[in-house]
Amino acid sequence: MQRQSDTDEQKLRALEIPFHERRVLVLAPLGRDGCLICRLLERAQIVCGISTPDRLADEISNGAGTAIIAEESLNVRSVERLASVLRQQPSWSDLPLILLTAAGRVTSATLQRNLLREPLGNVLLLERPVRPETLLSSVQNALRARFRQYQVRDYVRQQAQAEEALRRTEKLAVAGRLTASIAHEINNPLEAVTNIVWLLQNNPELPVEARDYLRMAQQELDRVTHITKQTLSFYREPSQSAQINVGELLNGVLGVFSARLQNKDVRLQRDIDTTCKVPGRPGEIRQIFANLISNSVDAVPQHGAMRIRCAPGHSRGRRGVRILFGDNGPGIPYAIRSKIFEAFFSTKGAVGTGLGLWVVKDLVAKHGGSVQVRSRNGSTPSWTVFSVFLPADFEASQPRSTP
Ligand SMILES: Nc1ncnc2c1ncn2[C@@H]1O[C@H](COP(=O)(O)OP(=O)(O)OP(=O)(O)O)[C@@H](O)[C@H]1O
Ligand SMILES: [Mg+2]
Repeated sequence: MQRQSDTDEQKLRALEIPFHERRVLVLAPLGRDGCLICRLLERAQIVCGISTPDRLADEISNGAGTAIIAEESLNVRSVERLASVLRQQPSWSDLPLILLTAAGRVTSATLQRNLLREPLGNVLLLERPVRPETLLSSVQNALRARFRQYQVRDYVRQQAQAEEALRRTEKLAVAGRLTASIAHEINNPLEAVTNIVWLLQNNPELPVEARDYLRMAQQELDRVTHITKQTLSFYREPSQSAQINVGELLNGVLGVFSARLQNKDVRLQRDIDTTCKVPGRPGEIRQIFANLISNSVDAVPQHGAMRIRCAPGHSRGRRGVRILFGDNGPGIPYAIRSKIFEAFFSTKGAVGTGLGLWVVKDLVAKHGGSVQVRSRNGSTPSWTVFSVFLPADFEASQPRSTP
């Protein structure tokens, strides 16, 4: 009796095909045919299992290398079910079937059986009595063809993954170039405005109130200048790292949002400890807070509520500060939660660029911290809470030196 060769066995292992994808399903309910076929296959180290007319279609949809079917076990109903499963195969798949037919002359009954099995597609007919060698070599050929199909499937999957990775990288490269050129264009008028504000500030004829406003304008202009310079130099600029009072910085950012909060009549509950300090770059931490608060203000309904909390915290045994940004907006649907930190993911149409949380994630990681989201969507009350942890013992707080 022919045994599956060692090389075949090695190939099979190399392909690492899971059990259910290489098994041979045997449907031969009459007599001892099923048992004998299985014994033959097992001796050749081919995984197999006996099936029944009711279960075969379901078992095939769960995965199979091939199926050996005794023709007399098929009827119109079982062929229809089988054909419907086979029609649903993905484009790479064309399951080979081996049909054991009865020998003899062509009669109207055999012609009818031919018509019956037509919908089954990729079928090899073996006339009984079949010699064991013939059956074995037919099964091996069918499996070989099936394994080729799996290779095509894996190749198609890898291609799709590589294309997706490339698409993302290209998107990021385009974004990088675009932001750098925008930053460059903004820089020139910005310098002019900064100079004008400075000249005005030093005008002794201006009332004190006007000078206060100018001082605030100067601070905001400094921030914009810092952001454009950072963008232009791809974070190369040695921005100053210092011990930051997180609570005070957070209160400052909230001040900038006061008009938007008032417009929506948002009830803001602040619970901000102003003693916590962490090492970091103030401009970047301000950006983290501004993006998260901006998202909450976008999400919260008219007369809605927001809660912002800042307190000492721990994460994985490290000391630091935990800042929570909560709102009673519509929440984030579960299906998109894994995507919101990706660049360019936005549900806000033309108003959103989808870069806010991507920047948050990057800057939090730059400070050795972490950011998580919890949300309830679809049932009342809906809410979202973003939680940021910034460690107090972060050492790599030197400026990033990536090109
Ligand atoms: N607090 C929140 N409540 C509900 N959905 C939110 C909240 N924060 C973020 N999201 C969802 O996450 C998506 C991505 O947010 P992200 O800040 O990255 O981009 P964006 O706000 O759409 O655009 P922008 O670049 O202007 O910030 C949002 O479009 C929104 O669907
Ligand atoms: Mg945003």
